[in-house]
Amino acid sequence: MITTVIKTTDPNQAATQGAAIIRAGGLVAFPTETVYGLGADGLDGAAVNRIFEAKGRPNDNPLILHVARKEDAFRLWAAEPPHARALMDTFWPGPLTLIYHRSAMVPDEVTAGLDTVAVRMPDNDAARALIAASGVPIAAPSANLSGKPSPTTAEHVLQDMDGRIPLILDGGPCRYGVESTVLSLVGTPTILRPGAVTKEMLAAVLGEVALAPSILAPLGAGEKAASPGMKYKHYAPNAQVLVVVGEAPEAATRLSALYDEFIAAGKRVSIAATAEALPYYGQRRTALLGTRRDPGTLCSRLFSLLRELDGSSDVILCEGIGTEGTGLAFMNRLLRSAGFRVEYL
Ligand code: TXA
Ligand code: MG
Repeated sequence: MITTVIKTTDPNQAATQGAAIIRAGGLVAFPTETVYGLGADGLDGAAVNRIFEAKGRPNDNPLILHVARKEDAFRLWAAEPPHARALMDTFWPGPLTLIYHRSAMVPDEVTAGLDTVAVRMPDNDAARALIAASGVPIAAPSANLSGKPSPTTAEHVLQDMDGRIPLILDGGPCRYGVESTVLSLVGTPTILRPGAVTKEMLAAVLGEVALAPSILAPLGAGEKAASPGMKYKHYAPNAQVLVVVGEAPEAATRLSALYDEFIAAGKRVSIAATAEALPYYGQRRTALLGTRRDPGTLCSRLFSLLRELDGSSDVILCEGIGTEGTGLAFMNRLLRSAGFRVEYL
């Protein structure tokens, strides 16, 4: 059993300590602007395998390589990806991951045998200090146990990783709270996972951008996921999550009825509500997600709220919203956390 230490001291000192662990082939959890990452030396296959072990992650699900400088991305790809410079100039550092054919220096363990690799430059000083001090790209998935909601605080990381890793760098709560947008630049630019860099923002740079069909729907039988991560149970608390999508008053009416049914059946129930619907729930047990006018705040609260409500609920009822802008990232995560148990009104 390893003792897990949380470090809140100054970023440079923490980066030095973290980098020593990374260079020795170990694991360090670190903050990014999206969610906390679980990092290892991205050029060392054995170190990368330790990430899969610590998370219990299926090893056919590839990882993202994180770089501290834009220039460092190019040697990880076989050639310069189309549109990469314009996208990097506009969105890096930031919550956009770019996928293109990999170079020979990227180990198979990172790409899970695919001939492409995902790369991003995080917009977080502690993350970039750690990567720079390590001197290698850092492979990092979200620092949760496989299948659980991604961690947006160091405390969440500790809940899942205590005794599994030696060090968590604490950078406070993550700004966005959902993982990066994953964009494939192989063929037509295609969003494999939506995030805070929206389809609309990408279209302003790229013109056309496609959406992978698995973003809002479960994979059909025998269908192949563009992104292997999409096929697994994801972001799911122990409680059962149910989603109702509709205008605030109608959604609240339907969710209140469901709430009363579950209570009658002896279940512990809570409702993740938007500010617009809150007044319609009466005395029922609610937790505020944020306002529908700002899906970004709904995103930033979703995972932490699911973790908070999980211990005290058998069922978590949640309002769904429209998929414009960051609403798409919110609905992508919410529907997965619910295992696609959703009603559209
Ligand atoms: O914001 C983020 O992206 C966070 C922070 C830590 O940077 N990381 C993260 O990593 O979310 P992870 O491993 O939880 O999600 C990576 C996603 C998975 O869905 C994976 O299947 C996909 O990216 N992916 C990685 N490499 C890929 C590739 N070569 N082709 C297709 N999908 C890929
Ligand atoms: Mg993840």
